[in-house]
Amino acid sequence: MSHAIIESQQIRIGSRVMPSHYFLAPLAGYTHLAFRSALRELGGLGLATTDLVQATTLLSGNRKALELIATSPDDRPLSIQIFSGWRDKLVLAAQWLEDQGYEGVDINMGCPMAKVTGQGGGARLMCDTENARRTVADVVDSVSIPVTVKMRLGWDRDNLTAPLLAREFEQVGTTAMTIHGRTRAQGFHGSVDLDGIAATVAAVDAIPVIGNGDVRTVEDALRMRKVTGCAAVAIGRGALLDPWIFRKLEDHRQGKAIRQPTAREQIDFLVRHFLLMTEQHDDYACVLFRKFAGWYGAKLGIPEDLEDRLRRFESVEEFLEIVEQIRERHGTRQTELATALIKVPNGPVERW
Ligand SMILES: Cc1cc2nc3c(=O)[nH]c(=O)nc-3n(C[C@H](O)[C@H](O)[C@H](O)COP(=O)(O)O)c2cc1C
Repeated sequence: MSHAIIESQQIRIGSRVMPSHYFLAPLAGYTHLAFRSALRELGGLGLATTDLVQATTLLSGNRKALELIATSPDDRPLSIQIFSGWRDKLVLAAQWLEDQGYEGVDINMGCPMAKVTGQGGGARLMCDTENARRTVADVVDSVSIPVTVKMRLGWDRDNLTAPLLAREFEQVGTTAMTIHGRTRAQGFHGSVDLDGIAATVAAVDAIPVIGNGDVRTVEDALRMRKVTGCAAVAIGRGALLDPWIFRKLEDHRQGKAIRQPTAREQIDFLVRHFLLMTEQHDDYACVLFRKFAGWYGAKLGIPEDLEDRLRRFESVEEFLEIVEQIRERHGTRQTELATALIKVPNGPVERW
């Protein structure tokens, strides 16, 4: 299929028409409301999905769970990602989300972490086709908003169940599927298997399959679509590394020269990200922002003393004062690749 043909097709998920073919993949701890909103302001982003939320914590009104699903009118299109090993909890959580006015539910079948798989959720669901099919069918039947699934290629390379599951899920009414092109056993190691994603694309009749994994540049995204035939691409770590990747892909779609962000735009993004965090968390945003200090420091080449202050500031005023210095002194330090600062679990996957 030629690139031009792919671009001419709009993607629908349920009744929602996606504004772009490039989506934000959830990264727990990073892709919160403020980050999504700041990204959307840059342009080119299609569907975003929240960090995974445990169905039971949502149903019990847990404060942290409610923070994870916080959204705003501009934060559209959005899906809420839920996980559980208990089918009835997923059903109840999906119904509750629909009652609250959310427009899409995504079921997590990809998480490799023991705290999720140990209770039968996340990637563990991929191990039992009948249970997975019934789980998805029950959620689809219990709500009228679109239900999607995000999964891996399978549990391990001897159990590549994604194509089979994708077909089953389509038959029971799933409206789209995201495939991270690794197995659970791979964790985040090795490279993404584009052929594995292509096999899943080939297995479904009509619903969009969203390819995911290791897309860091415009070229990576185009290659993912070309090689796999996927309808859309979900970008996770690549969006942290380069929040402008969606705007760049939109520039490309329009046949324009791809714009690189200026240093000023990058610093403005940092400021916007933080100020949007304060809208949700007030002064506590100063604490929450700390985990981004190293990442912005590396991206902007911020001298160590300023990066250190970004980890310790206690008020908006202090933040703005640090930013003034960043505007003067950015680019003065050689830094490691910022992507290395996005933590993925370490060690053998069996111990995660
Ligand atoms: C820190 C981190 C947190 C993640 N959290 C989630 C999550 O909450 N839900 C989910 O489905 N996938 C999660 N993922 C997986 C990503 O959505 C994505 O599938 C994976 O990182 C590969 O895509 P990427 O190379 O574009 O990041 C997470 C990945 C990382 C590194």
